[in-house]
Amino acid sequence: MPQLRIRKVAVLGAGVMGAQIAAHLANADVDTVLFDLPAKEGSPNGVVEKAIANLGKLSPAPFASKAKAAAITPANYDQHLELLRDCDLIIEAIAERMDWKKALYDRIEAYVAPHAILASNTSGLSINGLAEVLPESMHTRFCGVHFFNPPRYMHLAELIPCAKTDKQVLEGLETFLVTTLGKGVVYAKDTPNFIGNRIGVFSILSTLHHTAQSGLGFDEVDALTGPLLGRPKSATYRTSDVVGLDTMAHVIKTMADTLPDDPWHKYFKAPDWLQALIAKGALGQKTGAGIFMKKGKDIVVLDLKAQDYRPATGVADPEVVAILKNKDPAAKFAQLRASEHPQAKFLWAVFRDLFHYSAYHLASIAETARDVDLAIRWGYGWSLGPFETWQAAGWKQVAEWIAEDIVAGKAMSSAPLPDWACTPPRAASARRAAASCRVPPCPSTSASVSPTPCWANAPRRARPCSKPMRCACGMTATASRCSASRPR
Ligand SMILES: NC(=O)c1ccc[n+]([C@@H]2O[C@H](COP(=O)([O-])OP(=O)(O)OC[C@H]3O[C@@H](n4cnc5c(N)ncnc54)[C@H](O)[C@@H]3O)[C@@H](O)[C@H]2O)c1
Repeated sequence: MPQLRIRKVAVLGAGVMGAQIAAHLANADVDTVLFDLPAKEGSPNGVVEKAIANLGKLSPAPFASKAKAAAITPANYDQHLELLRDCDLIIEAIAERMDWKKALYDRIEAYVAPHAILASNTSGLSINGLAEVLPESMHTRFCGVHFFNPPRYMHLAELIPCAKTDKQVLEGLETFLVTTLGKGVVYAKDTPNFIGNRIGVFSILSTLHHTAQSGLGFDEVDALTGPLLGRPKSATYRTSDVVGLDTMAHVIKTMADTLPDDPWHKYFKAPDWLQALIAKGALGQKTGAGIFMKKGKDIVVLDLKAQDYRPATGVADPEVVAILKNKDPAAKFAQLRASEHPQAKFLWAVFRDLFHYSAYHLASIAETARDVDLAIRWGYGWSLGPFETWQAAGWKQVAEWIAEDIVAGKAMSSAPLPDWACTPPRAASARRAAASCRVPPCPSTSASVSPTPCWANAPRRARPCSKPMRCACGMTATASRCSASRPR
């Protein structure tokens, strides 16, 4: 296959993600066509034109400069499918419904150039399932490319091959994502919600569960789960508003529908209050109201007890802030677990269940623990992923606490921690892991680490690069240096 050159891209769907992905392509001076359904009245391109105009109002800004808006060509499926013939890459970003996506693939199939890549930005639908509707000849050029919201700013792009995706196609797309769009790529297996959302959405579900258990307000939980934990200001509930509550419910439903044997399955449900918000069209930022809402100059938050909005004034208690500011992660986690303060108990429970879930599912969703940490850092904007947080807090001690809480019935699931998380690595498996990887295996987890070449994280770096490689646990392997060259 000749080397992939991506000069022109079509984005299908001008919603929250599609419009912003198009903006980011325009920022990188890629010729971009943005499609949506034809408008029911007025200009047939009305839906897309409105979406492009709306981009100028979003914060943080999707465009590097306002002039970039003019570089996007608006299009609709009734009039402009011919424009697809010149595109080297087609990114589908329509609503999260398998039947709608498949119907659109049926419609565009005849217009896709023989060399072009078709990639879905689905948050977690099966890539192999989506491929079913495509002709066999397109399977090698089909995959998932999962950007995170907001796509200009979130560093992660997950690449999800289907069973027949050509390796060269993936490598070519990875190079484009890294060098042209400045993304960090993590390869994910085709399991529901891939890596970032499987772990990230579980973390939200666990936060929902523990919010209900503890009786804390949504604003109070956001005060606790944002910058104090090294996470974005939008924390948990405001992030859900930014993503879109309907999209969030779809992603939760994907987990409910496709993971019947997951030991945490009973928690994969949008709570009644969330479904009620969706039913009345309060979908978050895109509709101006959701869990939070602006009222005049004030921000108000949904209060479940009052069944109404109230001023969002919830804060983290100074006693808990003092614990979270402890620079020694081992001491911090010991204090969180020992504290009787409801906010501290809430935080320990959220961390415990996140660690438990991540460890239980690691082998089935990712190649390495490092991929999970990178997906969560880059996709959710956390400063540390679950495994490196656990590692820093003292792997063995935290594993013992989790095991104790499982036995005591405090954890969300009684599923045991996997053996590798509880027992020290055996010499043989450690040797095997070391042989397959230039980075020594983590002494505590023995998780095997497939080294990502440095150019993947620092695309502008001169090659070859001598940056030390990092292990899954965050340790730097000074003895091993990356000698990988960035592809031309
Ligand atoms: N919102 C997020 O934070 C986020 C993040 C990553 C990935 N995603 C994924 O990106 C995709 C789009 O999500 P979004 O948040 O932009 O959704 P959205 O609701 O904002 O936009 C969906 C777009 O799809 C179009 N559409 C609806 N039905 C259609 C149909 N039958 N045929 C063709 N077009 C149709 C709509 O006109 C709309 O422009 C989904 O697969 C979603 O899971 C969303």
